[in-house]
Amino acid sequence: MSIKLVTYFSASGTTRTVAEHLAKAINADIVELIPALPYTASDLNWTDHASRCVREHENPSIRPEIADMPDISAYDTVFVGYPLWWEQAPNIIRTFLEGQDFSGKTVVTFATSSTSTRGADGAHLHGCCSTETNWKTGKRLTTRDGEAALSQWVKELGL
Ligand SMILES: Cc1cc2nc3c(=O)[nH]c(=O)nc-3n(C[C@H](O)[C@H](O)[C@H](O)COP(=O)(O)O)c2cc1C
Repeated sequence: MSIKLVTYFSASGTTRTVAEHLAKAINADIVELIPALPYTASDLNWTDHASRCVREHENPSIRPEIADMPDISAYDTVFVGYPLWWEQAPNIIRTFLEGQDFSGKTVVTFATSSTSTRGADGAHLHGCCSTETNWKTGKRLTTRDGEAALSQWVKELGL
């Protein structure tokens, strides 16, 4: 039995809802990755070429600070949830992954989005962690996924 932690970043609440459902379904601890500088509505305006989200997307080396880095040392498996931004994880997820030692741990991503599924598997994030990290293929989840479906998914991961 692996000890599981659900971590997530959510700019507008959808990923938070999904993360809470997931944690309840699999009896995991849960912790939110809160940006030191919260995202305002105008920060999230992807149609404004000068907005914060566009700037961060266009500068992949930007690492938005996390207010309080969680301690993952007690966990075997860490779920990492995020909204898809341009079919990728927001850069703050890289801040989290690069700031921790996941060696010997299993990492599973999940993502929410309007429609996209690309980017939810987490493959583009593998380089953020040591090669000793055990990655499982993540998936897109929605607020409509019930506890039974969520626990079945995690069961199939064979953790
Ligand atoms: C900057 C930005 C980029 C987005 N890019 C995509 C995208 O490429 N594909 C998609 O389906 N949804 C996209 N969305 C929609 C979000 O992924 C979706 O609303 C998500 O569930 C929001 O999660 P949150 O409420 O936890 O922040 C984008 C939203 C924002 C703010």
